[in-house]
Amino acid sequence: MEKTEQILQIKKLLHRLDTGTNVDAGEIYENQTSNYTDKNLAGREWKTFFCDTPQLVGLSGDLSENYSFLTIQELGTPILAVRDGKGQFHAYVNACRHRGVVVEEEERGISKRFTCQFHRWTYDAHGTLVGLPKQDHFGELETEKFGLLELPSEERHGLLWVHPDPDGQIDLENLLTPQLLSELETWNLKDLVFLGSDTYDVACSWKLAMDTFGETYHFSSLHETTLYNSFHGNVQCYDTFGDNHRMLLCRRDIDEMRSLPEAEWKITTAALPVYWLFPNIQLMPSKEGLYLVRAYPDPDDPGKHRSLISFYLRSEFAANAEMREIFMMISEGFAKVIRDEDYAVGASQQVNANSHALQTVIFGRNEPALHHYHSTYKRVLESVSKNI
Ligand code: FES
Ligand SMILES: [Fe+2]
Repeated sequence: MEKTEQILQIKKLLHRLDTGTNVDAGEIYENQTSNYTDKNLAGREWKTFFCDTPQLVGLSGDLSENYSFLTIQELGTPILAVRDGKGQFHAYVNACRHRGVVVEEEERGISKRFTCQFHRWTYDAHGTLVGLPKQDHFGELETEKFGLLELPSEERHGLLWVHPDPDGQIDLENLLTPQLLSELETWNLKDLVFLGSDTYDVACSWKLAMDTFGETYHFSSLHETTLYNSFHGNVQCYDTFGDNHRMLLCRRDIDEMRSLPEAEWKITTAALPVYWLFPNIQLMPSKEGLYLVRAYPDPDDPGKHRSLISFYLRSEFAANAEMREIFMMISEGFAKVIRDEDYAVGASQQVNANSHALQTVIFGRNEPALHHYHSTYKRVLESVSKNI
């Protein structure tokens, strides 16, 4: 984040703290609980948001060296993401061209070759079919036409994007806005080193999981003994970038700013920035590193989802074993708060949504991110149905 923007936002947070005010959406928003249970809606959102939209599959640090790879199972199309021998990022459908077995089963690793377990057809980092056992028995095949299917991919400012449809297009300016792209660039995300991750399968909609990131009104209650120790509750900054938005959660360390000249103010001391990349990504950069949360629907059950929470450390700290250990401990603690506190209430909300006892739930004036998220969700799905 640019320095002038940091100072402006820190001033806003200090003012809100001093005057006991918060960001204000101006009105209350009623949200239909069927949004979390409707199977028809879930089918439409799956197609629109998870099959027909570019997906953030990780950070550059997830593919830290040439020939490193990642697999993604949470989307309709199994994806194999690789860095080739020249450092170029590619993505393929993780499906053997012989009879369709998933070629690479491991979640991540380093390999120059990907060999299918069924009959050992083998592909290289460019997806080229380089091994076909007993070809004289198998029959004539133009092997150059049977490489792994390549998917559109783009690495920008440390973020790895893949379109799950081979005919899809990635237009990050349109998806994120040029302003948000420039701001993301300032975080030097490409220098982050992957540290670890947790996977949570939770009995709540992916949207309920995302909702828990949408306000700090709950910090003094739900997180009274955890996050509330280091964050003020019910005070934040909020800005939108097209369908996406940024929240700044006010750290208690913001008080240090009061005795420092503005030139020394740091947004990472005063706040935790939370970038909500519509619809299912939370990106939280800090002084030490970054947390990435991705939520994916269970395609068969709108009341279930999977969250992937990954931790990254800035490269200047990553070489230090003690720092790695400390940040890993902090990160795991943070992920547990999400699982044991936020997602626990998410599962409880899902029980009531499933009961259909409440037709609607309410987002307050102090929860603008939830207004924006749900109105964007509705608008995008409606515009897609109009265009069909
Ligand atoms: S299905 Fe992969 S080698 Fe036969
Ligand atoms: Fe929370």
